[in-house]
Amino acid sequence: MPDALRFFDTRPVRAIAFAANDDLPMDKLRISGGAPLVGEVQVAGAKNAALPILAAALLTGDELVLDNVPQLADVTTMGRLLAGMGARLSREGGSVVARTDAIGAVEAPYELVKTMRASILVLGPLLARCGQARVSLPGGCAIGARPVDQHIKGLRALGAQLAIEHGYIVAEAARLKGAHIVADMVTVTGTENLMMAAALADGETVIENAAREPEVVDLARCLNSMGAHVRGAGTDRIVIDGVERLHGARHRVLPDRIETGTFLVAAAACGGDVRMTGAAPETLDAVLDKLREAGAQVDVGADWIRVRAHGRPKPVSLRTSPHPGFPTDMQAQFMALGSVADGVGRITETIFENRFMHVLELQRLGAQIDIEGNTAIVRGVPKLSGARVMATDLRASASLVIAGLLAEGETIIDRIYHLDRGYDRMERRLAALGAKIERVK
Ligand code: UD1
Repeated sequence: MPDALRFFDTRPVRAIAFAANDDLPMDKLRISGGAPLVGEVQVAGAKNAALPILAAALLTGDELVLDNVPQLADVTTMGRLLAGMGARLSREGGSVVARTDAIGAVEAPYELVKTMRASILVLGPLLARCGQARVSLPGGCAIGARPVDQHIKGLRALGAQLAIEHGYIVAEAARLKGAHIVADMVTVTGTENLMMAAALADGETVIENAAREPEVVDLARCLNSMGAHVRGAGTDRIVIDGVERLHGARHRVLPDRIETGTFLVAAAACGGDVRMTGAAPETLDAVLDKLREAGAQVDVGADWIRVRAHGRPKPVSLRTSPHPGFPTDMQAQFMALGSVADGVGRITETIFENRFMHVLELQRLGAQIDIEGNTAIVRGVPKLSGARVMATDLRASASLVIAGLLAEGETIIDRIYHLDRGYDRMERRLAALGAKIERVK
């Protein structure tokens, strides 16, 4: 197999699914805290844009060339899922070439979906392209119940028949038909699934109460360059005029705002001077506001953001909400920052009901945090002290890395396969900024 193809394993999807489950690398991170962070980091492409855009490769028989695709475990999982359905994928550096001449299988198996909920993103494209799909229900996950009822409701409105059988969503449709859909709540992947399905539907679809996240906008841009007619992405009303077929295109994935924010919070927490290059500052307004409130000096150019900080951060209170509000995917990192603030901050989580798993681990490092309902009251202490902790989900892992960088002495973080799902070799990039951090096999 040529090297370029090796990145995307093309074994049958079931074989890979079981392997993915059994072979979770048990790497750990060892951190000696206390070093300031100084230097530049090149931002990678956005995971949450790359995943739906890769799924969009199922919508056409032509070649889709994607640039700035991040090297992440979740991207590999999506590649494997698509390969199992008949897509041919190859990677050369940051670019991925995907081509799905024909869909050979329409199943997203439980073993893959449970490792990555975003697998649900194949449902809309499969139905639109070949009128059939069998996608495992994701079930619960570490950060809450996360149902997919809105995906199902929207696809039914487009004329698909969906049933739940043996834990799978089994879906069928002749050609989908445009419809007027009002989402009961703002859902990012729900909006994306419906946008992809509607792109090949007969007639006009309107999605009201649509997610306004920048990744939704990026997917719309990619679909439009494939010949789709999507307008209004970035507002809460998206209108899609269905077309008969989509063609190939070349698209550059937008920069990852959560990765950018995570490094910036690390810089604000540890002190230092960090410049993120190749960034999209306009996607980070709420996060940059909170960094300024925490006392960091934030400077912004067209495609870079620089954070300078020294001394203890000021306490920050925040409430997560759909874009353009403060992103839930940055909540845990700000909690690590607040744990050493000079005062008390309140962090309220409104998107996911169980997204405080990192609190118990931060407490092991000496953080003083109390939970009242969906609010964490964070009483800053002068110092954290290193300890052994366990990563529970992707962004919780990032908060533990930040806390470890802050803490006095050694911190060992277990189960960092969560971190690898969403950050490309984070420890190497932090080490290049002066952090004392290494991966232990
Ligand atoms: C996406 C992001 C994730 C981010 C989240 C919220 C990707 C791949 N993942 O996840 O990183 O944390 O947005 O910004 O883009 N809900 C329902 N029914 C549904 C769909 C959602 O009740 O059919 C609820 C969820 O349980 C949650 C809320 O709506 O409480 C928002 O979830 P949603 O926006 O769908 O999150 P994801 O798209 O899964």
